[in-house]
Amino acid sequence: MKIGLLGCGNVGSAFVKLLIDNGDSIKEKIGENLEIAKVLVRDTKRERDPWIDRSLLTTDAQSLVTDPDIDIVVEVIGDVQPSKELIETSLRNGKSVVTANKALLAEHYFEIEELAEEVGRDVFFEAAVAGGIPLIRSLRVSLVGERLSRVTGIVNGTTNYILTRMHEDSLAFDEALAMAQKLGYAEADPRADLEGYDAAAKAAILSSIAFGMKVRFQDVLCEGITNVSAHDVEFARRHGFVIKLIAECARLDFEGEQRLSVRVFPALLPATHPLSSVRDAFNAIFVEGEAVGELMFYGRGAGGLPTASAVMGDVIDAAQNLHFGSTERRLRRSEVNVVPVEALESNFYIALEVADQPGVLAQVATVFGECGVSIASMEQSGLGEEARLVFLTHPAKERAMISTIDVLSQLEPVREIHRYLRVIEG
Ligand SMILES: NC(=O)c1ccc[n+]([C@@H]2O[C@H](COP(=O)([O-])OP(=O)(O)OC[C@H]3O[C@@H](n4cnc5c(N)ncnc54)[C@H](OP(=O)(O)O)[C@@H]3O)[C@@H](O)[C@H]2O)c1
Repeated sequence: MKIGLLGCGNVGSAFVKLLIDNGDSIKEKIGENLEIAKVLVRDTKRERDPWIDRSLLTTDAQSLVTDPDIDIVVEVIGDVQPSKELIETSLRNGKSVVTANKALLAEHYFEIEELAEEVGRDVFFEAAVAGGIPLIRSLRVSLVGERLSRVTGIVNGTTNYILTRMHEDSLAFDEALAMAQKLGYAEADPRADLEGYDAAAKAAILSSIAFGMKVRFQDVLCEGITNVSAHDVEFARRHGFVIKLIAECARLDFEGEQRLSVRVFPALLPATHPLSSVRDAFNAIFVEGEAVGELMFYGRGAGGLPTASAVMGDVIDAAQNLHFGSTERRLRRSEVNVVPVEALESNFYIALEVADQPGVLAQVATVFGECGVSIASMEQSGLGEEARLVFLTHPAKERAMISTIDVLSQLEPVREIHRYLRVIEG
């Protein structure tokens, strides 16, 4: 069976290597020879890994996606365009498609899936969420009969690496980011990771598959880690918590209706929570189902070879379906109905700088009470003229927390209010 490869960067090149190394054993397992026929790149003159057959390189995308000899197209270019157009043309030309492109899927998955069904071909995307971790197929196939209540994940290795360095080595955010960049864990422009957009794209895909709803990127509430300070991390460590960037998809009852909450946010997790032990650039996803109970998926969420391994699994699935004239069945999905963020409830952590004068603490505590937020614990430390107050709250509605901050910001002795963080219970 012939493969057209769109892209020969980190993942594309590793995919070629994997096929060279494992091609014979794959053939023994599935009875099909998988062969790369063409490789699309931007620049054919660029230096490539030594195992890349330069005679297969082309810059002519149309000739690849319309080539009648090609059975499966693997898209590992990235970005929405030209990938979307190339995937659609591939499908219309009778090819099955494998992609690792989360940015594209988070916006256009449903239309691409519909097109694949219309033309009787497959679109697989195991590598788009959590790289090498076999998660999508587990949710789509093994857990399809489960009523899942919550899926919580660490799905961005860059931010997890930065937060790990802040926690374990007491680095400031900028120092940890510089280290991540030096080691190649963070891009030169790291905004998509730091602002949570990469994790939000994955959360949209993950929740669509886990909960059978059409969740798109814009449905995901997204907060990144740029405001997490060394103070926050140090407080968390002293009180038995770890700060992680969490992607959380949950089924909730809202005014008697089942709705979904899909969010990405930095949170304090108890050190005993299964996700707290996920260090450095690793990913993990914690799945809670009514019958199956708790499941944890853990592994490398990025990197050429781990990602190529997930792509290879998809290619083999697509090849077998083509061989037997079948396709993956498409699951039905309803339109998503999300819970308004203000109505969500959680425990909160919040730090304020205030003038260090008598009566301020009582004034601040009164505001919490009047806004309906009950304080669980408080810590005060002096900063010369100013004092730092840190509060942990009992469960409160997000709207009550927002009102608390509004009122606090108008108090004369309050100098600065840091962004609040949510606290996830163990
Ligand atoms: N890297 C990871 O660890 C990882 C993990 C999970 C998912 N993914 C996803 O996998 C995909 C690929 O990632 P990557 O890290 O392999 O990217 P990459 O290293 O930047 O490689 C991109 C490849 O696509 C080619 N390309 C880009 N724009 C093109 C265009 N307009 N026309 C033709 N070719 C074009 C490039 O050609 P040249 O070589 O000529 O520049 C390059 O070979 C992305 O969707 C990414 O989100 C990556």
